[in-house]
Amino acid sequence: MTSTEDRLLGPEQVREKVAEQLRRSRARSDALTAAVDDDDLVRQHSKLMSPLVWDLAHIGNQEELWLVRDVGGREPVREDIDQLYDAFQHARANRPSLPLLSPVEARRYVREVRDKVFDVLETSPLEGRRLVEQGFAFGMIVQHEQQHDETMLATHQLRVGAPVLRAPDPAPATRPVKREVFVPAGPFTMGTSTEPWALDNERPAHRVHVDAFYLDTVPVSNGEYLDFIAAGGYDQPRWWSEVGWAHRQRAELFAPRFWERDGDGWVRTRFGVVEPVPVDEPVVHVCFHEAAAYAKWAGKRLPTEPEWEKAARFDPATGRSRRYPWGDEDPGPEHANLGQRHLRPAPVGSYPLGESALGARQLVGDVWEWVDSDFRPYPGFAAFPYREYSEVFFGGDYKMLRGGSFGTDASAVRGTFRNWDHPIRRQIFSGFRCARDASPAEAR
Ligand SMILES: [Fe+2]
Repeated sequence: MTSTEDRLLGPEQVREKVAEQLRRSRARSDALTAAVDDDDLVRQHSKLMSPLVWDLAHIGNQEELWLVRDVGGREPVREDIDQLYDAFQHARANRPSLPLLSPVEARRYVREVRDKVFDVLETSPLEGRRLVEQGFAFGMIVQHEQQHDETMLATHQLRVGAPVLRAPDPAPATRPVKREVFVPAGPFTMGTSTEPWALDNERPAHRVHVDAFYLDTVPVSNGEYLDFIAAGGYDQPRWWSEVGWAHRQRAELFAPRFWERDGDGWVRTRFGVVEPVPVDEPVVHVCFHEAAAYAKWAGKRLPTEPEWEKAARFDPATGRSRRYPWGDEDPGPEHANLGQRHLRPAPVGSYPLGESALGARQLVGDVWEWVDSDFRPYPGFAAFPYREYSEVFFGGDYKMLRGGSFGTDASAVRGTFRNWDHPIRRQIFSGFRCARDASPAEAR
C-alpha cells in the first residue's frame, strides 16, 4: 500500500478536514480584508491587482457555483452577480469600474454562501461522483480561497501607506554546509495520480528521465543578488535573453521590485515597512528574466520543472517520489515557511527538517521559484473539473513557478503543485535558485 492510499479518509474524516480548512481559509480572508478600511477595500492599489473587495466576493461566488449549486444542487444565492465575478470576463485593470458589491454586501454574501456550504457538507454523500470523492470540490474551493488570500497579500504589498499587517519574524537560520546538491541521472515519477486534492495539471503521475545535474542547496539570497547588481548585471545585455533585455530596457529594471537605493546601500519596502535589504534572505519580487540573467552571470542556469521536482521529491533510497521534500507528512511549522505565519522569507539555510532526500532546503515555502519551463500538460492530461483551471493557459506566455512562498497556505502547495505566471511579473512572491549541468565524469 502506498502512503497516499494510507491517507484516504472516511466520509466523516473528510467532513472534519474540510470544515477545519474552510474555517482556516475564511479566517485569513477576513483578516486580510479587516486590516484596512472600506475606502481601501474598494480602491485599486495597482493595475495588476483587483480591489480587495472584488477578491472577497469572487471567493464567495466560486464557492457558490461549485459547492452550493453543483455539489449541493441548491438554488442560486446571487445568480445576478456571476458575470461580475467571472475572472475571464473582466481583466483586473477594469474591475474597479464594475458595479461591485460594497464591502458590507460582499461580507454578507460570503457569509450566506458559507452557511449553505456547511449544510451541503453535512448532508451530501461524499462519494459516487468524482467531483466529491475525498471532498475534492471542497478541497478545490479551499485552495481557490487560499490562492486569492496570497493574491490579497500581494495587493497589501503594493498598497501605499502605514503598515497594517504584522507577524513575528522567522528564527535565524542554520547555514547548510554544501552550496549545491547532486541529483543523479535517471527516471523519477513526476506528478501524481493519487493525491486527493491535486488539481488537474498535476496529473497524472508519469515517469520522466532527468540527466544528472547540480542544484543550489538554497534559493539565491539578497546578498548574492546585490553582487549581481554591483557587477553591473542590469547594464550588460550579455547576461540577458533577447526578450529579457528588451523588457529590462522598456521597464527600466535596476533591482528587485520594492528596492530603492539609500546612499551606498539599498532599502526595501515590505508591507509598508522601509528597511535595509537583509543579505541572508532569499531574494523576492524578481521576474523570470531577472532570475535567468542572474543565473547566467553566475555561470549557471535555472532548473527545468522536471529537475526542480526531482530534486524536491525523489528519494534515492526507495526510488519513489515523496509528497513533499521532507517526506509524506503534511507541512508543519518545522518544515517550511508557509501560511503567512511570517511576512517575509526565512534566511537561506533555514528549515533543516524540511530538507529533501537529496539535501536541498526551502524548496517548499519562503519564495516561489521560477523554473525554465513553459506551461504544458503532462502526458495523459484531462481537464477536471473545468477547462478554465489549466487547459486554457497551456502554451501561453507563461513560465512555471514551484514550491509556494511564505504567503502560500499549506493546503495550496505540494511537491507536485504547479503555478505559472507571465515571465515579467514580480509583484508575486517570486525568487529562484540556480542549477548547472554535471560533467560527464560527475554524471557517472
Ligand atoms: Fe479565482
